[in-house]
Amino acid sequence: MTVLQNSLRENVARFYSGNRGLWDEIGSHFKDPETYLHEFKLRYPEVSMDLALGRRGLNFALNKTRPMHRWSSYLEGFSEAFVDETIKQFRLKPGNLVLDPFAGSGTVNVCAKMQGIDSIGIEIGPTVFRILNAKVSWHTDPKEILSKFKEMTFSGPARIQPPVFLDTERQFQPQVLERILIIKEQVQSIQDPEIRQFFEIAFMSILLPCSNLKRSPSIGYIREKREVSPMLPLCLFEEKVGQIVEDLHYVREKVEKPGTCDIYNVDSKEFEIGNLHKVDAVITSPPYLNSFDYVGNYKLEIGWMDDAESTGELRELRDRMVLCDNVSRTMIREYSTKPRILDIDWIDYVTAAVRPRMKERLGIRRSDYPILIRKYFDDIFQVLTKMYEAMRKGGEVAWVVGDSLILDVYIPTDLITMIVAKAVGFQLVRVEIDRVRRSGIRRTFILRESILYFKK
Ligand SMILES: C[S@@+](CC[C@H](N)C(=O)[O-])C[C@H]1O[C@@H](n2cnc3c(N)ncnc32)[C@H](O)[C@@H]1O
Repeated sequence: MTVLQNSLRENVARFYSGNRGLWDEIGSHFKDPETYLHEFKLRYPEVSMDLALGRRGLNFALNKTRPMHRWSSYLEGFSEAFVDETIKQFRLKPGNLVLDPFAGSGTVNVCAKMQGIDSIGIEIGPTVFRILNAKVSWHTDPKEILSKFKEMTFSGPARIQPPVFLDTERQFQPQVLERILIIKEQVQSIQDPEIRQFFEIAFMSILLPCSNLKRSPSIGYIREKREVSPMLPLCLFEEKVGQIVEDLHYVREKVEKPGTCDIYNVDSKEFEIGNLHKVDAVITSPPYLNSFDYVGNYKLEIGWMDDAESTGELRELRDRMVLCDNVSRTMIREYSTKPRILDIDWIDYVTAAVRPRMKERLGIRRSDYPILIRKYFDDIFQVLTKMYEAMRKGGEVAWVVGDSLILDVYIPTDLITMIVAKAVGFQLVRVEIDRVRRSGIRRTFILRESILYFKK
């Protein structure tokens, strides 16, 4: 740990020297990352700590050229290489069952299937669930997809309208928009849902590159408008359909006995996983505390796939997810009246540290951060409890999560998650620090991303 500890120490010093007065203001409430790591080691000496920067190659970008994984670019996904390595590390074999309660675009499910391992995937997002569903539907003959593509005619004018609640005119040039509508119309006209789903994936993949938007990782307008050729939508669509056909051929030939895959478009906080005590391992990554609004950032795809028809519907979906900082104030107000689920001193500590900052910091977006923080860990507790019930004794978990900085208060989300896992009944094994990323007013505060290992 020495290298990381030193760099964190330097970092904390640099952070505060660049923000004169800040330390005086919140110093008494603040513990730095190193202090938390130190205290965690004293409390849980059985847990090993590993500095493995970059060793695992967590990043989804590595999937961009990999068969099946390249169908979608889900920035929040992790890499095939990481999942394959974890499957090996956990010694999972055909006949075993692996679960991902935050399945996203299905990296875990696809990797397991390729290795003949059965899996369960749970994902609440309707649009990303479509991606997951298509990626594990290997029974479809790719020749049928190709012949359906050849039947399509892409001549206008389009007879359908873009989603009403999106700012479509600002997002797309008129001729490009017309092409996109024509493609959507063709996709919608496919009767067989099994075949249609692959075209839906291809359609979704063209939206962002044909728009004036970028996702890096949050969605926003590109400063200098892109000149998009009206030919681009169809070129990209055809290219994606080609990849899908090629990859389906590949897996159907290469994988003799693919694993089965049960997927559910539900809330993993509430869902009763049927296979009680049968799950051999969990490999997953939840939303990170306060970091990413999945609904807002994928509203382009959600809207165009008709998975939400208004901002109100987007809000409802967001409120059901494991918490992000764009959830509605009404939901948080209601939540604050409920009895506490978790009683963990570090959660009390960080919420107490954040509270005075809400008055001191100018221009903050909301005044309920302490409840947001509490709800995040309550949500995680509920998912971990469901996982625990579904797992067999000895079953192992790899949980990828980053820590956070909220209103200049450092929150060791990874270590607190370990404490929550212990409260559920898991045995803590190891914290492996894999990546660092920058945060804070001047982007000088270094946060980490960890892989947490625990077992039943
Ligand atoms: C970090 S991403 C997982 C990405 C995934 N590992 C992959 O490779 O694509 C977290 C996912 O959790 C989903 N999610 C959030 N709250 C959920 C809930 N309550 N139940 C199920 N899924 C949820 C989000 O929609 C998001 O897709």
